[in-house]
Amino acid sequence: MLAQAVLISLSTQKVKKLLVLEGMSCRYFYRFDMNLADRKTQQPPLASLEKLLTLCAPSMARINDIITARMASDVPLIPKLASHLIAAGGKRMRPMLCVVGALAASKGQSAPASVLQLAAAVEFIHSATLLHDDVIDKSDRRRGRDTANALWGNEASVLVGDFLFARAFELMVETNDLAVLGLLSSASARITEGEVKQMTMAGAPDSSLDDYLSMITNKTATLFSAAAESGARVGGADEALSTAMHHYGLHLGMAFQICDDALDYGADPTHLGKNGGDDFHEGKITLPVILAWQGADDVQRAFWKRTLGDNIIQDGDLDKARELLGRHNAIENALSYARAETVSAIQALSVIPDGPVKAALHEAALFAGKRAY
Ligand code: IPE
Ligand code: IPE
Ligand code: MG
Ligand code: MG
Ligand code: MG
Repeated sequence: MLAQAVLISLSTQKVKKLLVLEGMSCRYFYRFDMNLADRKTQQPPLASLEKLLTLCAPSMARINDIITARMASDVPLIPKLASHLIAAGGKRMRPMLCVVGALAASKGQSAPASVLQLAAAVEFIHSATLLHDDVIDKSDRRRGRDTANALWGNEASVLVGDFLFARAFELMVETNDLAVLGLLSSASARITEGEVKQMTMAGAPDSSLDDYLSMITNKTATLFSAAAESGARVGGADEALSTAMHHYGLHLGMAFQICDDALDYGADPTHLGKNGGDDFHEGKITLPVILAWQGADDVQRAFWKRTLGDNIIQDGDLDKARELLGRHNAIENALSYARAETVSAIQALSVIPDGPVKAALHEAALFAGKRAY
């Protein structure tokens, strides 16, 4: 607290010197520097996943071992394709939330072995949905690599996605916990409902905000919620904590997807690891588009109908779309929805006592609504 108070009154150059004196890394310098900029614009500070990563590191090493072991198959294409995606990394947010849910329940003591199985299952479910999603979205970049569908085709991607779903269920059954099996089964069904709803909304920029919110609740937020809640339940949480983790994950997941939809129009693709503009080219209706449509005049609406509705896209149209979003402040306004979800996620943490677990969850909620990758 004191350090931050001192930092605010210093110039950027002085901050750099102070942090070097304290032996802090360049990365920290950058983050503090961004904090100063944020203060000037009255925005919440940038956040990272560092606390979550630190807290979960020992468990994540073991979860990655389970994942590698369970990708095995006598059919060589299965581990080859699956490891192409899984070994490329990803943020592993969902399994980490599962682990932290259990840590919250055990008041920071080590997580039970069954939570490792569960976390691996959660990452398998997520991986399966990514394989399927890249086929549906015709995406050719993910995690800084060509997608599996670009390399091996749609059929192989869909089938290996099915394999990973099935492996997830094997792992969940092994935890011997019917309640969490139920939670994650429902979440899996709802992901598909969300994806199908998104497909039926495609091409209709006059879609309602409610339809968008229910679609992203299903396709994204439900898995975050089920991961956090199931981790807590397996860790022995009482009803109040389990419910808190459910709400926390749900709001974090909403922030996460709204931010993703904003990033699709503006992020640096190298940093993001996937191509920008996929949503536009596939006629996907996301929050920035809904907001720009609401404020659009007839000429602008004709543009959205031609591009998103009729899929007639000419050179320069993506830039034009970005320009229209900018004119209506649609990215910033969408991100303010994400930040409201972040605030709700943080409010859900009130039942958790102060400490490293709460701090990591707090930081992850901030990250979800203000991430760059
Ligand atoms: C991508 O999820 C799919 C969305 C819900 C937007 P992540 O951004 O968590 O993907 P990885 O696992 O880090 O690659
Ligand atoms: C995907 O949403 C959500 C899933 C359930 C997989 P997106 O289609 O926006 O995810 P990305 O941008 O491809 O990662
Ligand atoms: Mg996609
Ligand atoms: Mg998609
Ligand atoms: Mg996206």
